[in-house]
Amino acid sequence: MKALILSGGKGTRLRPLTYTGAKQLVPVANKPILWYGIEGIVAAGITDIGIIISPETGEEVKEKTGDGSRFGAKITYILQSEPAGLAHAVKVAQPFLGDSPFIMYLGDNLIQSQLDLFLENFKKNQLDALILLRPVPNPTAFGVAKVDENGRVLQLVEKPKVPPSNLALVGIYFFAPTIHEAIAQINPSARGELEITDAIQKQIDTQKHVEACSLEGWWLDTGKKDDLLSANQIILDSCIATPVTEFKTDATSQIIGRVQIGEGTEIINSTVRGPVVIGENCRIENSFIGPYSSIADRVTMIDADIEHSVILQGAKISGIHQRIVDSVIGQRAQLVNAPPRPKALRFMIGDDSQIELV
Ligand code: G1P
Repeated sequence: MKALILSGGKGTRLRPLTYTGAKQLVPVANKPILWYGIEGIVAAGITDIGIIISPETGEEVKEKTGDGSRFGAKITYILQSEPAGLAHAVKVAQPFLGDSPFIMYLGDNLIQSQLDLFLENFKKNQLDALILLRPVPNPTAFGVAKVDENGRVLQLVEKPKVPPSNLALVGIYFFAPTIHEAIAQINPSARGELEITDAIQKQIDTQKHVEACSLEGWWLDTGKKDDLLSANQIILDSCIATPVTEFKTDATSQIIGRVQIGEGTEIINSTVRGPVVIGENCRIENSFIGPYSSIADRVTMIDADIEHSVILQGAKISGIHQRIVDSVIGQRAQLVNAPPRPKALRFMIGDDSQIELV
């Protein structure tokens, strides 16, 4: 069994962050989204992993993620030269996949469940495809399945205008090598892409054994800012278990609740109220960091007040007297000097931005 993780694509819904970086490398609780998928796959016992990369962000993904040794896996990078669809990515990966069954994992999906029970079901029943379904309030934004009363999949449609149900396809699929024949038989969709949804439909049409499981627990498709903030909140809640003990604060600082702080970080005359993660070599001075915030490495915060936000590496926030909430602030962005005003601020700010509020 192999795994194929898709980490290409343009990430248009997370712009401006994705003008300068891969969406799968945007951190959740200070760890790239992509890495959660890798860890989940390795935890299910699969260590031969191919990662699809794009020409725009592939080098960055490669450099940051490495050869897999940090995860106990072997990673092969596979370049998809154009974003021509998920089924196209499988085509490009065919030399890597060979005749092995595989998990296909969309790199911006995060799930709570472990993969092993699904994997067992897929293997035991010798399926051609196992898909995961989840009811959603906005099915038009996904691939959607119509199932009969026994849960058998009757039809799959990609981003339907009139959805046949509210059951969305989660971006995690289990395939036998028969998927390659199905892909060879489909044509590009209206949006010009070879859709994996159409390939699975082709398997259904040719009486292949396709089954669906419903996904329990949370599922986050981190393609948009609010999804990213929800993912951050959920991961901080579940992964930061204990209050920080070894960190020494000055007499005027307070660290309350579940907080993780990296080496070389200084916290001066500030309050941090967890769950919060703060990276290495940050300087936090005269500031408040409220629940559900992730502060990456080398961030400077002076006279600032932040809550439920994600701050990327090297950003600087200083002299902002309003509370910053529900915000994503890109790498090296600078937010400086605001006069006191009563209202909260809400931001989505890309890498290298500079913002001065006067
Ligand atoms: C893709 C799939 C879609 C699936 C979704 C899950 O959509 O095409 O069927 O429901 O992932 O995240 P995309 O995110 O590429 O729009």
